[in-house]
Amino acid sequence: MSDRYIDFANSSLGHRLVAAIGLPSPVRLERWQAGRLRPVEGALLLGGGALATQVQAFANKLTDAIYTYGNGTSTWIPGHGPKLKAVVFDASDLQHTDQLKQLREFFQPLLKNLDNSAHLVILGRAPETLADPFAASAQRALEGFSRSLAKELRNGGVLQLLYVGDGAEDQLEGALRFFLSPKSAYISGQVIRLQACATPVEDWTRPLAGRKALVTGAARGIGASIAQTLARDGAEVILLDVPQAKADLEALGARLGARTVALDICSEDAASQLIEHLPDGLDILVHNAGITRDKTLANMTPEYWDAVLAVNLNAPQVLTKALLDSGTLRDHARVVLLASISGIAGNRGQTNYAASKAGLIGLAQAWAPLLKPRGISINAVAPGFIETQMTAHIPFALREAGRRMSSLGQGGLPQDVAEAVAWLGQPGSGAVSGQALRVCGQSLLGA
Ligand SMILES: NC(=O)c1ccc[n+]([C@@H]2O[C@H](COP(=O)([O-])OP(=O)(O)OC[C@H]3O[C@@H](n4cnc5c(N)ncnc54)[C@H](O)[C@@H]3O)[C@@H](O)[C@H]2O)c1
Repeated sequence: MSDRYIDFANSSLGHRLVAAIGLPSPVRLERWQAGRLRPVEGALLLGGGALATQVQAFANKLTDAIYTYGNGTSTWIPGHGPKLKAVVFDASDLQHTDQLKQLREFFQPLLKNLDNSAHLVILGRAPETLADPFAASAQRALEGFSRSLAKELRNGGVLQLLYVGDGAEDQLEGALRFFLSPKSAYISGQVIRLQACATPVEDWTRPLAGRKALVTGAARGIGASIAQTLARDGAEVILLDVPQAKADLEALGARLGARTVALDICSEDAASQLIEHLPDGLDILVHNAGITRDKTLANMTPEYWDAVLAVNLNAPQVLTKALLDSGTLRDHARVVLLASISGIAGNRGQTNYAASKAGLIGLAQAWAPLLKPRGISINAVAPGFIETQMTAHIPFALREAGRRMSSLGQGGLPQDVAEAVAWLGQPGSGAVSGQALRVCGQSLLGA
């Protein structure tokens, strides 16, 4: 469903009217277009500590316009240099309260020189890994700083904090290819931890080449977009949905050259059927199928409760375990669970849905260390308000609130969620496990 307010606010009359009466003025976000090669199309400013030097070593693969504040041919001078499309600041060396002012000194001069849809990244070290309490406190301070600055950015700007673990430095390229590019257009104010990962991406134009992926709930909405994006990135995709959705499923399968499986994931023999359909194993498992049956708890029927918990939580648990136990899920597999910010913030009328989605986040957290010896990662992706058939049914006032109550002032697109899933599906994204990545435009809910 299209967001008419954004169309209006970006028309020439609407733009003036919206500014005159002080209404929010969301910009049209820049998204990744198929065929694009460079993650950053424009100027990248690098600064800060030693990790920035490591980024410099591969920065020419991100863009050919690389700047620093320092002396040299590529010095960037506020007000004189080009508008910045991307910024990386390494704050991992900051160990004392006094040193935190480097954040203000670095970012303040550039804030009025950002291009539309600019992507900013701060690098740090995870506080829980540091022995010195003051150093841990300084690194934790980065979280408050980055989440606040993310809220101050204008014109579609987004900002994330990446805590880089020991030995995870060579995972920075994969993470920055995602977080500095329009693939992460609707992600902001997030804190992500990177750890060492043994499996690299071989070909950045087709990072999922040679990987077999299963997407549940693939007939429409976010699932269909995930399937398309995984296929774009080179994966062989298998599409699954309920038998009632067979026509849509097969039409998408024909478009993508993908196999289809018409199966209810809650049916008793779902696990054995799936294993039979996947004799050659599986590298990427995306549990996207999900339903809502909203009622306040006072009016919640047992049927509504059971249906939501069965589809959203029990089926991913049972199927993942069966695919692991049967050896169908290969070593270094990537598992992605579609959660929701409702599972983080809670939502009136969604006790069943929020319980199921919070349960998925807990599942990723608990299973990640157990799967680590096999190199398997498991993460949750928590979408905020995404423009799909599910959200088109929300009453108008609630729908408008859902769209505007975020730093980006708009809903996301299925593609935004799909890009995050595709990134977590990459071989190198074993660097991230047991985490919940919100794709919500820094929604105020549960922030
Ligand atoms: N749309 C949003 O704003 C939003 C926000 C947060 C989370 N999510 C989550 O993202 C996922 C996709 O959402 P969507 O908006 O595309 O939903 P959707 O309703 O458009 O699509 C869900 C798909 O899952 C399939 N499905 C449902 N039950 C199934 C079952 N038992 N077996 C197999 N397939 C089944 C449906 O047939 C449908 O094709 C869901 O898990 C949802 O909870 C969506």
